[in-house]
Amino acid sequence: MESASGTPERWARRCVVTGSAGFIGSTLSTRLVRDGWKVTGIDAFTDSYDPVEKVVRAANLARVAGTSLVVGDLVDLDLARIFDGAEVVFHLAGRAGVRPSFALEDRYVHDNVVATERVLDAARRAGVRRVVYASSSSVYGDGDAPFREAATPNPISPYGRTKLEAELQTLAAAGTGLETVALRYFTVFGPGQRPDMGLRLFAEAALTGRPVTLFGDGTQRRDFTYVHDVAAATEAAADAPASGMAINVGGGADVSLLDVFDVLRALVGTELLIDVQPFARGDVRVTSADLTRARELLGFVPEVPFAAGYERQVSWLRDRMGRAMELSA
Ligand SMILES: NC(=O)c1ccc[n+]([C@@H]2O[C@H](COP(=O)([O-])OP(=O)(O)OC[C@H]3O[C@@H](n4cnc5c(N)ncnc54)[C@H](O)[C@@H]3O)[C@@H](O)[C@H]2O)c1
Repeated sequence: MESASGTPERWARRCVVTGSAGFIGSTLSTRLVRDGWKVTGIDAFTDSYDPVEKVVRAANLARVAGTSLVVGDLVDLDLARIFDGAEVVFHLAGRAGVRPSFALEDRYVHDNVVATERVLDAARRAGVRRVVYASSSSVYGDGDAPFREAATPNPISPYGRTKLEAELQTLAAAGTGLETVALRYFTVFGPGQRPDMGLRLFAEAALTGRPVTLFGDGTQRRDFTYVHDVAAATEAAADAPASGMAINVGGGADVSLLDVFDVLRALVGTELLIDVQPFARGDVRVTSADLTRARELLGFVPEVPFAAGYERQVSWLRDRMGRAMELSA
């Protein structure tokens, strides 16, 4: 079946996903194609972690009909040309991670702030209808939980500050010929999670019998959000009856790191060796999302609770480590 413009009906809508080789961007892109979007991805395979992981995700995505990829830095590319004909830009490219941001502030400014400025400017010039921006719970800092979008942001790391600056730019662009929404993601997990993130590091250590490094006393709590739930909320944001607004995207419950270790012990079937280190700079005590706005505007209800999602992540990691062992044998 074809639409009046000659576009096959199954790809009735065109979009761009920046950061499409990333953990969340690759999951989102796969979902969008399944739902009938034609996806142009952009990624620079930056050195924030082993670029091979990004190249593998991009190669897997390239096998999916309806996707294409532009390799390059958002700051250097002719974005208006790439965005031409796209209805929505899902802007997920960025430099994530709190701890490295203290030593690499320039990189964070480049990938989060300058890149977002370029995306917004090009989206306006190309006639894109809407930009959906991947913001972060880090904009709240050590605020009162549960975090509500109306609270005054108070980031405590360069990462959080650059995400907030880009979010403010995004929201300010609403009404200048663009619709914009900023989604504040809360610690995203699941298969494919970034190698620098706690849940992945804990599981890798546990599966190889190495000590699990714990910063602090383990009572800090996180609102872990399953990656497929995040992708669903992000897709819904394309058509949300809102613009110029930030919306929390959380998992619906906060879990302490001590609870995480209980789940992990059961999944690996052994006791964990725990190497306790002092609290890390930039780490907040609690993150917890108020999801009222997400429910109302995105119809969002998280579907995968922590234990079930972590089981899938650990199983993905076991397969991955098994394949790596076979290759090295
Ligand atoms: N993972 C989380 O828990 C989490 C939580 C809150 C917010 N976020 C935000 O969601 C987004 C995606 O996070 P992720 O965990 O998938 O990270 P990721 O590092 O796996 O993905 C980001 C991708 O963006 C690309 N990129 C970075 N700078 C670029 C540039 N200048 N030009 C082109 N490509 C560039 C990277 O190469 C990478 O593939 C980020 O913006 C992050 O700040 C993530």
